[in-house]
Amino acid sequence: MKIQKSFLSKEELCAIQREISHCENTRAAAIEALKIVQRKRGWISDNIIGSIAQALNVTQCDLEEIATFYNQIFRKPVGQHIIRFCDSVVCYIMGYHKIKMILEKILKINIGETSDDGKFTLLPTCCLGKCDQSPVMMIDDETYVKLTPESIFYILEKYQ
Ligand code: FES
Repeated sequence: MKIQKSFLSKEELCAIQREISHCENTRAAAIEALKIVQRKRGWISDNIIGSIAQALNVTQCDLEEIATFYNQIFRKPVGQHIIRFCDSVVCYIMGYHKIKMILEKILKINIGETSDDGKFTLLPTCCLGKCDQSPVMMIDDETYVKLTPESIFYILEKYQ
């Protein structure tokens, strides 16, 4: 695992300060600050979170809580592409298990893991708001609906 530098780059710090200037208080800028750093580094390590907290003028403990609560912030390394697979009730009824099995088989990982080639991380997610087209998953910012075992192959091929 690559060790992240524990200090913010000048660019990251400027972007965080810009964000703070748009918010009523620094705490409100916390999620955006975490996203700024995550965009550059892929995830938020224990090493860097203290520096982000310092830039925001909040305690590291407070920022840890925010980062842990918000599921778009990754606290460990993730793959190049994030697959969020809906496990809420409608998708669950409409074929969750079949699709989950196919995804895990093709990627050779279980839910919550990253493929050996570092390409995909497979995560569960709650309802993506497309229940009428379930089962549903997102890969990065793209939503895929009415999933079938066959469509999964074609979809994943686009990311190879
Ligand atoms: S339950 Fe899966 S999109 Fe709503």
